[in-house]
Amino acid sequence: MIVLGVETSCDETSAAVIDDNRVLSNVISSQEVHAQFGGVVPELASRAHIRAIVPIVQKALTEAGLAADQVDGLAVTFGPGLVGALLVGLNFVKGLSAAVQKPFIGVNHIEGHIYGNLLTQKEVRFPILFLVVSGGHTQLVLMKDHLSYEIIGQTRDDAVGEAFDKGAKMLGLGYPGGPVIDKLAAQGDPMFTRFPIAKLKNAPFDFSYSGLKTALLTYLNGIDEKTRETHLTDICASYQKAVVDALLEKTVRAVETFAVKRIAVAGGVAANSLLRKRLADECAKRGLEFYQPELAYCTDNAAMIARAGMEYLRRGRRSPMTLNAFPSLKLGSNGFYE
Ligand code: KG4
Ligand code: ZN
Repeated sequence: MIVLGVETSCDETSAAVIDDNRVLSNVISSQEVHAQFGGVVPELASRAHIRAIVPIVQKALTEAGLAADQVDGLAVTFGPGLVGALLVGLNFVKGLSAAVQKPFIGVNHIEGHIYGNLLTQKEVRFPILFLVVSGGHTQLVLMKDHLSYEIIGQTRDDAVGEAFDKGAKMLGLGYPGGPVIDKLAAQGDPMFTRFPIAKLKNAPFDFSYSGLKTALLTYLNGIDEKTRETHLTDICASYQKAVVDALLEKTVRAVETFAVKRIAVAGGVAANSLLRKRLADECAKRGLEFYQPELAYCTDNAAMIARAGMEYLRRGRRSPMTLNAFPSLKLGSNGFYE
């Protein structure tokens, strides 16, 4: 099955064509305009998507060597995300779907991240415990079958990507912060200073990152400029260790409680080298299977949306032309419900 995917939920305009497990094209245009503001400006994101959407989709089709009417179906993110940004992709796909007379399906962005991990896997076995870690989400999801999601834990406040981005902002490292902290931390000492891991009563699988952010701020206020400069890599390494320790603690607890044999990691933060290593080590130690996405499919991209959409399209599901965008869409509510 050949599916054209479109993703415009935040600050990446992306279009991709996949043929079963093969990615024929995956074009991503990242919006540079937000860097100067230290975060995504919704209005600017919508306007940048409007400019980029047609050329990006054309490029994806050209690279795949296909015309729009040669695909079997279309898939598009309809939430969660920025409403103005989502509407650009959704409306475009509706129009194209009508023009080429092919069905389209609305996909949940988080579901897309999950399928980004499974994108190039020929054979997927369930159950899988998914650790979903992105700029907007931190969730432990138990998947017993395709398209079936049981959320067993999530963040109470900030998402893990936000912890990286806000931490980097405090350290004067720019946006997005995750990749910069990852790089600097590799040269630093993770034991340089200790940041706390939140303990949540009666919520063994939930996360909380707001306290860690405050701890970093308090720490930075207590040291002088020189220490901050000389030990920047050490501070990054210590902060990253605390972020990753919290993820590991809850994931391992969930593995033991639900007796799963497979762990997968998904979302932008799945690109983090320490997280990948720690999860791989833990799985090797416990004899578990570990699925990690190729780096190109960790952060936002349309190939992952196409792959998730394909699972619905294969089952004959399609979305109505009245489908709306949902900024707070929950995992498990899909495109054919309004
Ligand atoms: O999944 P994504 O592209 O967008 C959302 O759906 O939110 O994730 C973006 C997040 C940002 O917070 C970014 O800082 C983080 O992923 N990120 C990383 C790394 N690469 C991207 N965080 C830690 N280490 C990385 N290498
Ligand atoms: Zn994302």
